[in-house]
Parts: sequence; C-alpha cells; structure tokens
Amino acid sequence: MIKEEEYAKRRTALAKKLKKHSITVLVSAKAQQRSNDTEYPYRQNSNFYYMCGFKEDNSALVIIKKEKKIKTYLFVQKKDELLELWTGKRLGQKEAKTIFDVDDIFTMDKFDKKVAELFKDKLSLYLDFTMQDERVDKLKKLGSHLLCHYNISHKVGELRLCKSSAEIALIKKALSITKEAHHLAMSKAKSLHSEDELQAEIEYVFKKQGAYSDAYTSIVACGNNANTLHYIKNDDKLENNKLILIDAGCEYDYYASDITRTIPVSGKFTEPQKELYSMILFVEKEIISMVKAGVMRSDLHSKSEELLCEGLISLGILKGNVKKLIKKKKLKKYYPHGIGHWMGLDVHDTGPYKNTKGKEIPLLAGMVMTVEPGIYIPQDDKSVPKRFRGIGIRIEDDILVTKDACQNLSGEIFKEIKDIESL
Ligand code: GLY
Ligand code: MN
Ligand code: MN
Repeated sequence: MIKEEEYAKRRTALAKKLKKHSITVLVSAKAQQRSNDTEYPYRQNSNFYYMCGFKEDNSALVIIKKEKKIKTYLFVQKKDELLELWTGKRLGQKEAKTIFDVDDIFTMDKFDKKVAELFKDKLSLYLDFTMQDERVDKLKKLGSHLLCHYNISHKVGELRLCKSSAEIALIKKALSITKEAHHLAMSKAKSLHSEDELQAEIEYVFKKQGAYSDAYTSIVACGNNANTLHYIKNDDKLENNKLILIDAGCEYDYYASDITRTIPVSGKFTEPQKELYSMILFVEKEIISMVKAGVMRSDLHSKSEELLCEGLISLGILKGNVKKLIKKKKLKKYYPHGIGHWMGLDVHDTGPYKNTKGKEIPLLAGMVMTVEPGIYIPQDDKSVPKRFRGIGIRIEDDILVTKDACQNLSGEIFKEIKDIESL
C-alpha cells in the first residue's frame, strides 16, 4: 500500500518543477462504455492516481503554487443513495476528509465555479494533454487568458521514473501472482485444448490471488500465431509439437507486471525449438547482466541486436556480417521491437525516455524496466531453414535498476529449459 505521506511527498516534488503562480488540474479517468449501457470495469488514470491515490470516477485534483508553497484540493463525487444502489459506494466528501491529506476537499458540483475562481490570479496552467478528454479541452478554454498552457504529463512522468520501496513492493506482489499463473500454465498446457482455455487458467490465478485485473490483454499464441506481436485473439487450438508464447501479467493494486514465457505444448522442446530458445535465453541473460544505473537503454538494445544477429547467423537463419545485417535491417525482420520499456503504474510506463532537451535519460537506480528479446520466424519465410519456420519466441523479465547492478524481480519464474520441462 502507498501511504498518504508518500502522495504528499510526490506533490511537493512536483511543486518544485512548477512555475510560480500556477494552477495544475488533473482529472480522473472517464468510465468507458463497452456497449449500449454497459461499461468496462473502471480504472483510474495513472497520473491522477500517482498524485493523490483516489480511485473514484468523476473527481479532480487541483494544485495551486503561489511563490514556493502549494495548496492542494481534491474534488470528489457527492454521495447519492440512489446512484450508489446501482454503481456502488462512493467515499463522499466527509469520509474523504478523514483519509486524504490535502488542504481541502470539495464535491464535484462545485468544481467549475471553484476552478474559475482559482484561475483568476494565476499566470500558468498545467493540464494532462495525454488524456484526450473533453474536460481537459474545456479547462484549456476556461484558462485561455492565462499566459501558458503546459503539459503536466512529462513532469509527472519524470517523478514516476524511479520507484519508491512501497511501489517496488507492489510490483513484487504482482509478480508473485504472475509467477504462480505462468507456472500453472507450464504444468497444465499439455492437458488443455485451446489458447483461450490456457488464458482462462492464467487469469483465474490473477483473480483468485486478488489482482485487480491483467495489466494488459494476455497474449497466448501457439505456433505461428506468436509471430503476430500483439496477438490477443487467443482462440486457436494448442498443437502438440508447437510452442506457446504467453505474454501475461497481472496488475496488483494499480501496479503492473509484464512477463513472457515460451513453452512447449507437449512439455518437451523439439531440437530446433531448443536451439533457438537457448540462443534467445542466452541473450536475455547477457542483457540483464548489463543493467545498472548509468547505462543507456539504447546501448542495451544495440547489444541485444548484435547478440541476436550473431545467434541467428550461427543457427544458419541469417547469412553475412553482423554490422551489415543490422544496418540493412535484415535483423529487424526477425527482431522488430525494442529490448524493453519502463514499467510501473502502466505496463508501458509513461515516464519519459528523453529529457526536455531531447537527450536520452540513462538508467537510474529505482527504475523498473523489462528486458524482452524475441525472435519471430514466419511459417512462410522460405529464406529460413524449414525446421525453424513458424517459431516465435520471446522471454521477458522485469528488472529493478540498482546503483551497481540490478535485481531481476521475476527471477523465480522458470525459464531454463530443464525447469520448464520439469513442470
Ligand atoms: N506485454 C506488452 C509488452 O511486453 O510490452
Ligand atoms: Mn513488455
Ligand atoms: Mn510483455
């Protein structure tokens, strides 16, 4: 759990980045319609949540900075007995005051009037332009007399880059559930018939162990389906001599996990599967061993390209010189994505990769990033020896950057061939 003091600390840290005489408004995520009058389960906007920890719809956070000090106001939904009968309990203003350590709490019906008042003597306005929300557009218009409109998302993103120990504890908890789900998949795959059946087993563990949901739609891709990077249909048969690429991770109390394992349906890797898998596993471990503060993510990517390319040459999948093959984008055909991304409240965390001057941000202690090399060989690729065609493999772990090295937070999830086969 993230304590109230931590949210207050985050707001103080944000305030240091804001201009004097500014107003910042963050609005909650909108409930999303699924069809007609049904909605998707509600999930709070990550930037808003990061700054105050409030989980309800129809709410807003306002931060006023005069000279140095800040004032923070939270706007919450009014209690409404009839609506609460249908959609569930609301905290309400009175109860919220006992929990949230802000300067004042108002109900949302006062929002327009209060914000218009607060806009009056300010010079700058910060909004989250990544939201694509008509409430943000309306606020932008309302504040059109202010000198500047700044996007707060980059600044909140900078704060979100390095995780606190409480955040790391939540990611670890998410990973402990995800570990159980992947291990169950390894032990059950042989007895199941379809990708969605396997998906159901994985997500059953997520729910049963108290995860709110999956952190992204699970990918359960058998055989050649693994060569579609964002394959989420998951409705094909499991075929006995094929591999299944499972990219699935739960979200626990708003924090993501993001894990890929590639396992044989039958419980035993075939020779070509083993050769390709061992090569990618070697690369994954090499890259993880390079992760520490000060290293550039782009260097990790370049190294992964070099090692994967060498690996593909040694397996007879590519022919030629490593540097030339990479330059001519021959490797990209089989390794089309990056080595990894920041992870946190969002699976692809919105923390920036470059600073405001456009310079790459090096790895910092406290960051969590994925390392996820993969090779994808389409079934119909005649340029590749037949034994490798239709194989797609990715291995993905979640890594905590520390000052002198790193910690593989998902290191307990089986990935050695002998361990996978043992399950
Ligand atoms: N699961 C999405 C990703 O690996 O980036
Ligand atoms: Mn990932
Ligand atoms: Mn993933």
